[in-house]
Amino acid sequence: MLTEVIATRYVTPLREGGSLPGIVEADDLGTYVMKFTGAGQGRKTLVAEVICGRLGQRLGLRVPRLVQMQLDPVIGLGEPDQEVQELLKASGGLNLGMDYLPGSIGFDPLAYQVDPVEAGRVVWFDALINNVDRSWRNPNMLVWHGDVWLIDHGATMIWHHNWPTAQSAAAKPYNASDHVLAPFGPDIAAAAEALAPLVTRELLTEVAADVPDEWLVDEPGFDSTDALRRAYVDALLTRAATVHERISMQAQAKAPSKPPGWLTDHLPEWPHKTKKKSDS
Ligand SMILES: Nc1ncnc2c1ncn2[C@@H]1O[C@H](COP(=O)(O)OP(=O)(O)O)[C@@H](O)[C@H]1O
Ligand SMILES: [Mg+2]
Repeated sequence: MLTEVIATRYVTPLREGGSLPGIVEADDLGTYVMKFTGAGQGRKTLVAEVICGRLGQRLGLRVPRLVQMQLDPVIGLGEPDQEVQELLKASGGLNLGMDYLPGSIGFDPLAYQVDPVEAGRVVWFDALINNVDRSWRNPNMLVWHGDVWLIDHGATMIWHHNWPTAQSAAAKPYNASDHVLAPFGPDIAAAAEALAPLVTRELLTEVAADVPDEWLVDEPGFDSTDALRRAYVDALLTRAATVHERISMQAQAKAPSKPPGWLTDHLPEWPHKTKKKSDS
């Protein structure tokens, strides 16, 4: 189970993506990015955040710490924005929190370099969870203290929107041509060799156990939340063994054109290097 905290103050909305998460303070004196159960994308988005976020952490990737957060919508009464008010009202009770990384900035493939081993691990992980939300248009990666952090795993595991087709969907290929790290020559083979053996039934079962029951109940076709948890485990376990063989990437990975030299020539190092795993 994830640690549970109680939201004490709604600070401000984050408008960059589509789901309107908010910065929220909690009774443990932490500051979190809160993802709301009442958001239009529904509770499966939060299930995906927990399963993929915890899995990423267990594989040694940098994903901010996750908590479950209790929300009393009364804390948003002073919030002037009608849209935020509605969202808070629809989200009383259990929501998801992610450690807020203060001072982080969005990853830009022109400003930062990632080494091929790191890039390979992220691309392999995204292929495993079938993440369609890590393109150069919408990287969902933050740079914080020189490290790359992965956020926003809500749009993953497409198969959980149609369980009867889950086995065949999990066998599908992953096109990484648009992946934000495709231009860095990701070493997929090294990533598969290092990470695939770690994705065991035991590990996936532990990760699935972190999803609160109330986000899993009443799923059509499943008579218990544990049966549904096993379906997540089975889909990811099957995929982990061979997904590296099905990752495609066009030779000319698309990336936006470089900024003009007069913008960057005076900088001491450009693009900036992010830390390798071995640096930390
Ligand atoms: N843990 C975090 N620390 C700092 N900023 C964050 C964090 N999580 C999200 N953000 C910011 O909020 C934006 C929206 O969050 P994200 O999880 O991508 O939600 P969505 O795209 O579903 O709206 C991100 O693009 C990022 O700028
Ligand atoms: Mg996003």
